[in-house]
Amino acid sequence: MMNFELTQEQKEIHEMAMKFARNEMMPNASEFDLKSEMPMDILQKAWELGLVNTCIPCDFGGNGFNTIDAMIITEALAYGCLGMNTAIMANDLALLPIVIGGTKEQKEKYLKPFTESYKIAAFCLTEPGNGSDAGGLKTSIKDGGDHWIVNGQKMWITNAGYADLFTLYGTIDPELKHKGISALIIDAKTEGIEVGAPEKKMGHCCSDTRSVTFNNVKVPKENMLGKPGEGWKIAMQTLDHSRPMVASSAVGGAQCALDHATQYAKERVQFGKPISGHQSIQFMLADMATKVEASRLLVYKSAWLIDNGQSNTKLASMAKRFASDSFMEVATDAVQIYGGYGYSKEYPVEKLMRDAKLIQIYEGTSQIQRLVIAKEVLK
Ligand code: CAA
Repeated sequence: MMNFELTQEQKEIHEMAMKFARNEMMPNASEFDLKSEMPMDILQKAWELGLVNTCIPCDFGGNGFNTIDAMIITEALAYGCLGMNTAIMANDLALLPIVIGGTKEQKEKYLKPFTESYKIAAFCLTEPGNGSDAGGLKTSIKDGGDHWIVNGQKMWITNAGYADLFTLYGTIDPELKHKGISALIIDAKTEGIEVGAPEKKMGHCCSDTRSVTFNNVKVPKENMLGKPGEGWKIAMQTLDHSRPMVASSAVGGAQCALDHATQYAKERVQFGKPISGHQSIQFMLADMATKVEASRLLVYKSAWLIDNGQSNTKLASMAKRFASDSFMEVATDAVQIYGGYGYSKEYPVEKLMRDAKLIQIYEGTSQIQRLVIAKEVLK
């Protein structure tokens, strides 16, 4: 049987997250965007409300959210501010490899502290020369006897400048391609880690993005996730979990753009009536609303598959591809409905359009999602 109704608990989670988005995030979003500064107080408050690190299981101090609950929270927080939500989501992206591939001891040691105080984590996969082709990464992990030695550079790392912990992917032998990729948990204070200057970005300006260089960084042997060579599978499984989340953030952003455009269309009078009375605007709003709803359904199905122990690789990529491209279209149309005002930083849809662009790029571009979908279809 199908049931599209949220449970009472999920409705309460949604209400609480939306209240936080409207009261704490939205009033400050433009200011932190213009300053390009991480809003640490707001992020701390989100953590205190239990809205951060939704992927941590109860056994290790988490709030016991399932994947659909996490999508509900992400959509609401992205409605509040895409940049702030990126800082929040990046923690899940970095902690998921530990949830998926960690031993009980690793989970106790590295996940629990994230439930005891607000801490920040960063996922280090992408390199200057390897973005979409993640399997060709060059960062080396060498056996140094009683520890691993890491050398290499990572690029576009969200949260890097504030991170307490990194989950890093490197290769024990580049000849082995993805079969050589291994994953390490690294304390950010370890000697030899050099964090670059903040990148100047088009959108998500209040999130922190930098390069991270590893110079002969010594990592304890017990910090490897799985065995040498098992890192790639952990990375791919992580992305299966995190891509629905990114898609969910696209739904939140698109819903926000739609709500602003709808309200504006009712207020703005041209040719003697509100522009919402003109069919050209009505058709735009209808298409925007349909895209938001279809994206949300893909997000829920891709999350539901995880919660029911089924593979979601295809649906995760479908959700990410469709929701992010739809968000870009919806945000562009919202700016169009606002006309000249939409192009001004005085109005919220300008930021939404800039923020939408990144969702089509990070955690696998729309083109990479199509590759994954096609591979699954042709299997
Ligand atoms: N689960 C488990 N195993 C998987 C898998 C999955 N979802 N997907 C692939 N694999 C396995 C395959 O079965 C295959 O295994 P075998 O060798 O045993 O057969 C192996 O992985 C290789 O798979 P492919 O042949 O499909 O690999 P590929 O190199 O051709 O392509 C790719 C892989 C899908 C393109 C991958 O490189 C990819 O996802 N690229 C995009 C990278 C990405 O999303 N980066 C995001 C960085 S994080 C970020 O952006 C966040 C931030 O901080 C801003």
